[in-house]
Amino acid sequence: MKILVVGSGGREHAILRTLQKNSLSAAELFCAPGNSGIAQSFSCAPIKVTDVSALADFAEESKIDLTIVGGEAALAAGIANEFAARRLLVAAPTREAARLESSKIFAKDFMTRHHIPTARYRTANSVDEVRRILERGEFGSEDAPVVVKADGLAAGKGVVLARSRGEAMQAAANLLKTSAGEESKCVVLEETLAGHEVSLLLFTDGRDYKLMPAARDHKRIGENDTGANTGGMGAITSASVLDEKTKNRVVREVVEPTLEGARAEGFEFRGVLYVGLMLTTEGARVLEYNVRFGDPEAQAILIRLRSDLAETFDAVARGRLSSVSVEWSEEASACVVLAARGYPEQPEMDARIEGLESADSSDTNVEVFHAGTARDGEGNWIVAGGRVLNVTGVGATLDEALRRCYRRIEGINWEGMQYRRDIGSFGKSELDGKS
Ligand code: AMP
Ligand code: GLY
Repeated sequence: MKILVVGSGGREHAILRTLQKNSLSAAELFCAPGNSGIAQSFSCAPIKVTDVSALADFAEESKIDLTIVGGEAALAAGIANEFAARRLLVAAPTREAARLESSKIFAKDFMTRHHIPTARYRTANSVDEVRRILERGEFGSEDAPVVVKADGLAAGKGVVLARSRGEAMQAAANLLKTSAGEESKCVVLEETLAGHEVSLLLFTDGRDYKLMPAARDHKRIGENDTGANTGGMGAITSASVLDEKTKNRVVREVVEPTLEGARAEGFEFRGVLYVGLMLTTEGARVLEYNVRFGDPEAQAILIRLRSDLAETFDAVARGRLSSVSVEWSEEASACVVLAARGYPEQPEMDARIEGLESADSSDTNVEVFHAGTARDGEGNWIVAGGRVLNVTGVGATLDEALRRCYRRIEGINWEGMQYRRDIGSFGKSELDGKS
C-alpha cells in the first residue's frame, strides 16, 4: 500500500514512523510537505497542506492508495471533500465534520443539540453584546472568572481565561478585532470549569470506533503551568490518566452521542476524533473537539500502538473499522518537546543542534521525532521552527518512560534550547482552575 501523510510536524513524523514500524501493508510512505527530519527516511513532496487540489494531483500521479491527514488546516480546507470527489481514499473528516473544531460556536451548539455535557455558554458578535451578557451577571459577579473564545481556528491563541469582567471585555474586544473572516466575527463566553484535563482520542469510521489510551498534555511554556500557552510542551499516557469507570461514562455521554449526532446531522465523522475533557466534580465536560490527532499527544499515544496503523486507517476510510483490532501496549509513555529560545512568541532560528546523530541510537524505547529542523549547507542539523524535536519514550511506568526521555535529552543541545523538566507532573494549580 502506498500511503501519503499530510503535514510537517512531529505528529506526522510519529505517524510515518509508526506506519514504518508496525504496518506490514505500508509498502511506500510519502509525506507532504514534511520536514528535513522526515525527509531522512521518507519521500517528501513540497506541497502546502491547504493546497488540497495539488495534494490530490500528487496522490493521483503517485498512485497513492490511502491518505492520512495530520493537522486541522488541511481538513478545514476540505481535503477529504476534494479527495472523495476524485475517488481517492482518505482517512479524514470532511470540511463539514471538521466544523466541530473549526467553529467553536458550531461545536457548542452541536453539543447542546445532542445533550453532550459541556460548559454553559453564550455567543456574542460585538463588544456591546458581551458587555450586556456580563452585566446581567450571567457568568457571576464583577470579579468572577469567565472564559472567552474566538469562534474560528486560532492555532491555540483563541482562548482567554479572563479573571474578571473587565479582562473578559478586553479579551473579547481583542478577539473580535483580530479574528478573520465573516464566520469568525463571534466569540463564545463560557463558564470557567475546575478539575483536571484529559484528552480521549479515538479512531472512527463514523459508526464504529476504537479508543486510544487517554492522554494529558502540558500547554504552558513554563514549568508548573506558567507563562504563555503553546501548541503543547509535552504529553503523557498512563493507565492512571482516566479510570475505567469514568472512561465508560465518557463513552456513553460524549463519544457515542457525538458520533450519532454527526450521523443524524448528515456529516458522518471519519478519521481521528480528539475529545478534550475537564473532569469536574459533577462529571466530565467537553472543553473542545479536535478533528485530528493532537501534537504532541499523537507521539505519546502512537508509541504504544501494537497493531497495524495502515490497516486501521484503511478501515477508517472504507467504513469497516469493526473488522480490525487495534491493540496497545500496557506501558506508559511520555513526549517531551524541545523548543527554540523565544518560543512561542518569537522563536530564534538557525542554532546548530548538537548530539542528534548520536542520540538517534540504541535505546529502542525512545524515539526522537523532528518537528522543526533543517540542514545547513554543511549538512548540520539546525533549528527551523518553534517546536524543534519531540523526545518520546515508553516504559513499564510513567517514571520509567520519563527517565528514558530525559536521559536522551541530556545528549542533545543547542544555543537556547528550552524544555519543561516537569512533564508528567500535574500540580495543584490546575485543580484550582488556571488563570
Ligand atoms: P480549548 O481550545 O477550548 O480546549 O481551550 C484551550 C484550553 O483553555 C483548554 O485546554 C483549557 O485548559 C482551557 N479552557 C477552555 N475552556 C475552559 C473552561 N470552560 N473552563 C476552564 N478552562 C478552560
Ligand atoms: N496539543 C494540542 C493540539 O494539538 O491541539
